[in-house]
Amino acid sequence: MLSNKDSNQQLAENKVPAHVAVIMDGNGRWAKKRFMPRIAGHKAGMDNVQTITTHASHLGIKVLSLYAFSTENWKRPTDEVDYLMHLPGNFFDKFMPELIKENVKVNVMGFLDELPSYTLDAVNRAQDQTKDNTGLILNFALNYGSRREITAAVQKIATQVANGDLAPEQIDESVIDAQLMTGAFGAYQDPDLLIRTSGEERLSNFLLWQLAYSELVFTDEYWPDFTPASLDNAIAQFQSRHRRYGGLTNK
Ligand code: FPP
Repeated sequence: MLSNKDSNQQLAENKVPAHVAVIMDGNGRWAKKRFMPRIAGHKAGMDNVQTITTHASHLGIKVLSLYAFSTENWKRPTDEVDYLMHLPGNFFDKFMPELIKENVKVNVMGFLDELPSYTLDAVNRAQDQTKDNTGLILNFALNYGSRREITAAVQKIATQVANGDLAPEQIDESVIDAQLMTGAFGAYQDPDLLIRTSGEERLSNFLLWQLAYSELVFTDEYWPDFTPASLDNAIAQFQSRHRRYGGLTNK
């Protein structure tokens, strides 16, 4: 059993999910409840990313995928979008020493060439600074949308077919896996557990292919209120479920 200093939850060490994905929702409502501007919620949300990353690393999670900005989030007011685009730089400026100490490797996936140059620079710098780290992969989805990711993958595969490099009957799930933005994670490509905070129960265009067999946990807490103990609770739920991948077992 895994007993950790951040909470009193007992978790089965051999069943910690390898890949945990989180839809970090509720920053705006967290701020509103406190009569604060929405961006104060995003700031609190940003700080909580570090808290949860450290805890995930201590638990032995291999990949933590966080939905930080969707391809639909550009529709928000300009000042909020502007604030969100500065968050990666602010986050890495503030927490890079801790990330390095924790041996965390940063990865950012999404349609990155559409980001402002200051965001892209911050992201590239962070990936570069941590590229040799061998611990938890902290995977931010930034300007990410799953349908668009799948569409881009289909286009790449179609091009290979058109060029005569691939026959249509050679297209199987592994060919599609490899063309997705999570392709580099290999055995850890698919989340074992998806958590969404703030009481909403939908996927919002996040990792639609990769979540096919994931366990889903929804919690009412707003993202800034989601604590290490909340993560332990979600993992305890994961551990109490019985994954069958569509098959039958005698349990
Ligand atoms: C959803 O809450 C949250 C977002 C769109 C932004 C998520 C970003 C963070 C938590 C910080 C990310 C940190 C880094 C390092 C990039 P919402 O604004 O939709 O909340 P609401 O539904 O209550 O309005």
